[in-house]
Amino acid sequence: MNTVVVGLQFGDEGKGKVVDAISSKYDIAVRFQGGPNAGHTVVVGGKRYKFHMLPAGIMGTGLGIIGNGCVVSPDKLMEEISEIFGDTMPNFKVSHRAHIILDVHVEMDGWEERMRSSKIGTTKRGIGPAYQDKVGRYGIRFQDLLEEYVLEKKLENMKKRYEPYGLNFDVKEIKKKLLDFGRAMRERITDVSLLLNMEIKNGKSVLFEGAQGTLLDVDFGTYPFVTSSNTVAAQASVGSGVPITSIDNILGVAKAYITRVGQGPLPTEIEGEDAKKLRDAGGEYGTTTGRPRRVGWLDLPLLRYAAMINGVREIALTKIDVLGKMDEIYVCDKYIKEGVKYEYPPLDLDGVEPELVRFESWGNILENESVSDIPEVMEYIRFIEERTGIKVKMVSYGERRKDMEYIA
Ligand code: GDP
Ligand code: IMO
Ligand code: MG
Repeated sequence: MNTVVVGLQFGDEGKGKVVDAISSKYDIAVRFQGGPNAGHTVVVGGKRYKFHMLPAGIMGTGLGIIGNGCVVSPDKLMEEISEIFGDTMPNFKVSHRAHIILDVHVEMDGWEERMRSSKIGTTKRGIGPAYQDKVGRYGIRFQDLLEEYVLEKKLENMKKRYEPYGLNFDVKEIKKKLLDFGRAMRERITDVSLLLNMEIKNGKSVLFEGAQGTLLDVDFGTYPFVTSSNTVAAQASVGSGVPITSIDNILGVAKAYITRVGQGPLPTEIEGEDAKKLRDAGGEYGTTTGRPRRVGWLDLPLLRYAAMINGVREIALTKIDVLGKMDEIYVCDKYIKEGVKYEYPPLDLDGVEPELVRFESWGNILENESVSDIPEVMEYIRFIEERTGIKVKMVSYGERRKDMEYIA
């Protein structure tokens, strides 16, 4: 069974938590897009691990893969490995086709953001510029790190590309750093598409771990307030080289409410004291950048759309414990815009008003209490299922691995 876990909102849905909870059933964990803009938190044995580039699923599978669809920062990757694993290298492979994020991409990320009249609020990890260079055919790939003369030629080309911006680009220095990194990665750089397809043929199972969320997808998200990759489930195939016919299952992850870091529309946004309460209860501060996340009520028009695009029939609903801290709970079932009701987002989210449905709060969830036995929680879940046509398969009610329940 090969499964894609994908975020159905604006990222930070709790993909790390869900992936970790199911990962021991799989042999290989794969990241297929994005880079260190991601922050997937896993809490195991009282310790908190923050994954940015390696799949969080590596904790359960024992083998992690960074697919061709990813952009990788050498420094950030090494930092992450030492923070999580200390001196022991984890068992992982990286696609020879994955692209490298250079310092110049990080600089450009900041520069582009300053130039924009309408800010995106990127993570400043160089994601956008690295993907621009991939599509623009300037990019440096992992396989280039293994051949000095190839790397030098590509870096010379890159220097010419960035000269007009007046950015410092020291080919010799960058080449040395990348060659060192290439040497450290030599055993890991491989054709992961071939490896994955062979392993699948041998009966191994793969867990594809999405980063960001559907509403940040460069095609299907709230463009231009999006990230620079496709984040939807179909990208699992393109970003790893595993054919769509080998993917059996897609599990969508949604928070019981909604959050967003950075700019762009958030129709159900809550302001003021209630927002602060929800943000603090949920620890809604970015894993990667520490920025406060904007918060809002669960948005069903966006959820229906995201589920449709991904082909999701089952959801893992997270942070139900956090939502219980609110005195009153609301869900947006429809939008109203210029007198018209919408169950799916209209072409432009500008000016939509959420039509909210009120629910009784369930309060605190007690240790050893089963969420299926809490009538208010079940009323909330059944409403979501009925109004979206999607099964809520799992409910997460805490950050620990064991705070998760399957719903009948
Ligand atoms: P991801 O990017 O989708 O993996 O999500 P993040 O890790 O960035 O953010 C989710 C945060 O919520 C993390 O700090 C998790 O430890 C935490 N979390 C996940 N599920 C739950 C839950 O059900 N309840 C609570 N209280 N925290 C959760
Ligand atoms: P995970 O995997 C939440 C947001 C940024 C910004 C926009 C573009 O942890 O869910 P970028 O640096 O990608 O060019 O920024 O996307 N963003 C995320 N928001 N979770 C993430 O990842 C995100 N990755 C990027 O805040 O609005
Ligand atoms: Mg995150």
